[in-house]
Amino acid sequence: MAEPAPIPKPSCALCGGEGFSFQQRDDKAVAVVCECARGCPECGGQGRVYARDGRGYEILRGCGCGADPRRLSALTGLQLPSKFLDRTLASYRCYHPAQQRALLRARRFVDEFVPAAAGQRALLFCGPPGTGKTHLLCGMLRELAVHKSVRGRYEEFFLLLSDIRDGFSRGLSSREWLEPLRLTDVLAIDELGKGGKNREWEQGVLDEIISVRYNAGRPTLLATNYPRATSDWEFKADGAAAETLEQRVGPRIFSRIHEMCDVIDVIGPDQRKDQHDARKARDPSDHGPRY
Ligand SMILES: Nc1ncnc2c1ncn2[C@@H]1O[C@H](COP(=O)(O)OP(=O)(O)O)[C@@H](O)[C@H]1O
Ligand SMILES: [Mg+2]
Ligand SMILES: [Zn+2]
Ligand SMILES: [Zn+2]
Repeated sequence: MAEPAPIPKPSCALCGGEGFSFQQRDDKAVAVVCECARGCPECGGQGRVYARDGRGYEILRGCGCGADPRRLSALTGLQLPSKFLDRTLASYRCYHPAQQRALLRARRFVDEFVPAAAGQRALLFCGPPGTGKTHLLCGMLRELAVHKSVRGRYEEFFLLLSDIRDGFSRGLSSREWLEPLRLTDVLAIDELGKGGKNREWEQGVLDEIISVRYNAGRPTLLATNYPRATSDWEFKADGAAAETLEQRVGPRIFSRIHEMCDVIDVIGPDQRKDQHDARKARDPSDHGPRY
């Protein structure tokens, strides 16, 4: 059953009416209930209320005020990067028709997502840097958690690889590191194709993750800076030659991804560059993007 929409509290300057905010604790962003929800008359600040389901049975469900512990734990579990904690689909701007299409598709995914239903088609956002692919991924995970208490998780592929390498060196088996990735309702893997020198091992890890998600019937959202063969733009990592996504991940995984995902082009002006240029105009001693 769908969770109730958050009760809008536009008067709250702390949370903008969402009923929660993220607090940075060590290297983790933890979702905490906002002051404005603590005295909620519906749930007394407990975040759970009794309601009747479609058959007339009394059930306990999340309160829309922001204190719902399931929603807070889903939000914390997203592991959003700190710079993207406040990025939402509502704050995504369309400078190019492709971005408009990408935003509509992202919204549709969120709206149509049914928790625990198998086989939902996933998305691959494909576009050059700075067009808002990470913004879209984070915005989608956030909305799924807020509106449907969906347990999502954000992973940057390159960092995930190094976590897995650490796991192996601590004696974890591949089953053990795969299990949390398998169980996540919606997994988002960003920077697909970014990798180091050990391409064969990296492709093997990706293959395992994608297979285990596919077999579990759970969608994996993907984003990449690498173009398709038909794209009219190119991307090269520092010091490397330009490559397509197919070259980066190999033909086998590439065709698997196509089976699982709709590929969405995200084309537009480079916002990192624009943000940097704007900062530079304000402060000429600013020497580069800080993210
Ligand atoms: N279309 C957009 N609307 C609003 N902000 C954007 C948009 N595109 C990029 N940004 C912002 O620019 C920065 C870089 O975007 P990011 O999502 O990291 O791009 P990408 O992942 O495509 O390289 C982020 O701060 C992001 O919020
Ligand atoms: Mg990105
Ligand atoms: Zn508030
Ligand atoms: Zn409440």
